[in-house]
Amino acid sequence: MNMQRRSFLTYLGVSWAASCFPLVLSACDTGAKKNDAEPKVAASSPADKKPADPASFTVVGTVADLDKTGSVGNKQVLVVRDPANKSKVVAVNPTCTHKGCAVQWKATENHFECPCHDSDFAPDGKVLKSPATKPLATYTAKIEGDKVMVKLA
Ligand code: FES
Repeated sequence: MNMQRRSFLTYLGVSWAASCFPLVLSACDTGAKKNDAEPKVAASSPADKKPADPASFTVVGTVADLDKTGSVGNKQVLVVRDPANKSKVVAVNPTCTHKGCAVQWKATENHFECPCHDSDFAPDGKVLKSPATKPLATYTAKIEGDKVMVKLA
């Protein structure tokens, strides 16, 4: 009987201690957050947090080069003056849609011409002469100051 009483009191004591443990822990909490002790990083401006605009314009050449050679660009884009409005520019993907040769701008004829099988394309990329049947891909392009810029997205 005495042993049962001792076991009961031991059980009661352990249970009480276990139930008080969370209270003890919360009492020890200083209220400080974990990150309070870490060094702060200077806040950046909202513009710094903006992700890069995938649809932004890329400089592909200068107006001086465009007027000197008739076109500027690279393997991905070919920019020429718009024959319908010389103050504007048009941009196409110069990869011929027939078999993939690089088209060239023929300023005297106002069209792009493929040297491989002689397809012709209008400044807006439309097929003027086969064997190509699909138009050249086009891009939005503009002149800003002395730069020729293309939106490649
Ligand atoms: S690759 Fe251009 S016409 Fe054939």
